[in-house]
Amino acid sequence: MAKKTFLERISDLTKISQRANFAKVDKHISELKYETHFEDLAAARFTCRSYTDRPVRLAKVNKILDVARLAPTAANLQPVHVWAITTPEALERLHKVHDAFGAPVVFMVGSKAEEAWVRSFDGKNAADGDAAIVATHIMLEAFDMGLGGAWIASFDPAKVAELFPETAGYEVSFLLAIGHPTDDAEPTARHYVRKSLEEFSTVL
Ligand SMILES: Cc1cc2nc3c(=O)[nH]c(=O)nc-3n(C[C@H](O)[C@H](O)[C@H](O)COP(=O)(O)O)c2cc1C
Repeated sequence: MAKKTFLERISDLTKISQRANFAKVDKHISELKYETHFEDLAAARFTCRSYTDRPVRLAKVNKILDVARLAPTAANLQPVHVWAITTPEALERLHKVHDAFGAPVVFMVGSKAEEAWVRSFDGKNAADGDAAIVATHIMLEAFDMGLGGAWIASFDPAKVAELFPETAGYEVSFLLAIGHPTDDAEPTARHYVRKSLEEFSTVL
């Protein structure tokens, strides 16, 4: 039997519903039909930690950036900046921070706390949450294009600051590895572990 492409694999609804069963999510979730494109996307997404050498076209990188730009932020203050690392020189610098699983593109997402909305009641700053929303747009847009992605928060921010003076004044929260998954890229066992709907949420 011919090997399935990555796109064919991620759009395999049977597998998605098997995953839901495996995760022992509540009955009505496993019976969900995943009728909309977004539900398919959300169910099929997983962290990809294995990439081919195939480059990601700059047009795609720019499209991802443009979709990320549309992300909502608190009070629309947009305190977030994204650096797309694409050149061999920039990737070499990045690899001193993290190998990014060999991905050909890495988006760095940072924010400026002093430009973000602050809740008056308790002083909570929205910068990090805003960065996470922008990062989510990047990841889901990349996945929608048939690319794989991995969030990376486990890195030394001091090294990022030293190697990327371009980020001065920003706190970099996430590195997002993006690329074409290898044929054997699969979700880890951890991916399947999901809280039940009851544990995860409360309808009041
Ligand atoms: C904010 C955030 C930070 C993460 N940081 C890392 C990381 O540093 N290294 C890594 O291998 N995976 C990282 N991950 C991936 C998670 O481990 C992964 O999303 C989780 O285990 C669920 O698996 P799944 O994405 O395949 O569903 C991160 C994910 C998120 C959302």
